[in-house]
Amino acid sequence: MEKCALVTGSSSGLGLEITKSLIESGYTVFGGSRSGTEFEHENFYDVELDITSEESVEEFFETVREYTTKLDLIVNNAGICEMSPLSETTLEQFESHLATNTIGPFLLFKHIESFLIKNETHIISILSTAAQYGYPNVSAYNASKFGQLGLIESLKKEWVEHKIRFTNLLPGAIDTPLWDKMGSKFSRSKMLGISDFMSVFQFVVNAPSTIQFPELTFLHREGFLE
Ligand SMILES: NC(=O)c1ccc[n+]([C@@H]2O[C@H](COP(=O)([O-])OP(=O)(O)OC[C@H]3O[C@@H](n4cnc5c(N)ncnc54)[C@H](OP(=O)(O)O)[C@@H]3O)[C@@H](O)[C@H]2O)c1
Repeated sequence: MEKCALVTGSSSGLGLEITKSLIESGYTVFGGSRSGTEFEHENFYDVELDITSEESVEEFFETVREYTTKLDLIVNNAGICEMSPLSETTLEQFESHLATNTIGPFLLFKHIESFLIKNETHIISILSTAAQYGYPNVSAYNASKFGQLGLIESLKKEWVEHKIRFTNLLPGAIDTPLWDKMGSKFSRSKMLGISDFMSVFQFVVNAPSTIQFPELTFLHREGFLE
């Protein structure tokens, strides 16, 4: 039987590349995002999803359930990042980071339990070095990713009986559209390329099912981007 994967944030950057790569490896992929993508494939279902809205998450899973009741792979990827000193960060900006990067994964996991396959499902979360390491001028992002890591660490223990795998990827900066609005202060040549990220992602996905990666941190050889 074909393998099914779910990818949040499939319209851009890492999520779009992950989607294409999984389809190439034979998965049927259910992608979720607000804007969707022009990418089309018979094994790709591009489903509308606003991860910050429980109603939208419920509707998303109703659509997925029309095609499958089991998910072999779940890629928790959707996220936002804006940069500003704390004094210039509005309450709305701070709350929108928490809504997307922390509450979003909470809603995803809350509604996904019935799709898990005992001894099989692998949940891969695209966190960030910012889930463990503080950077200046991204307090909202840092707080939201630290929060997401805490959420996952609790869930791992709560869902022990499902015997599923949890892998947390903590990459450093990657040259994706996420950086388009952040100005030119940061040199893209000191960021990982999407292909660098994908080589790690594919290694993790293709690893034997006896292995999980509780925390895989990787970054550009030049070090942290600050
Ligand atoms: N690029 C980096 O340097 C870097 C480094 C470490 C970790 N990461 C993490 O990697 C993940 C992907 O980032 P990226 O670099 O690929 O950024 P990106 O190109 O901006 O893509 C972000 C994706 O998240 C989706 N998204 C945002 N808000 C959403 C919402 N409310 N509901 C559903 N989907 C939403 C976007 O889709 P729509 O806008 O269409 O909804 C888009 O598909 C993020 O979690 C990010 O924190 C990135």
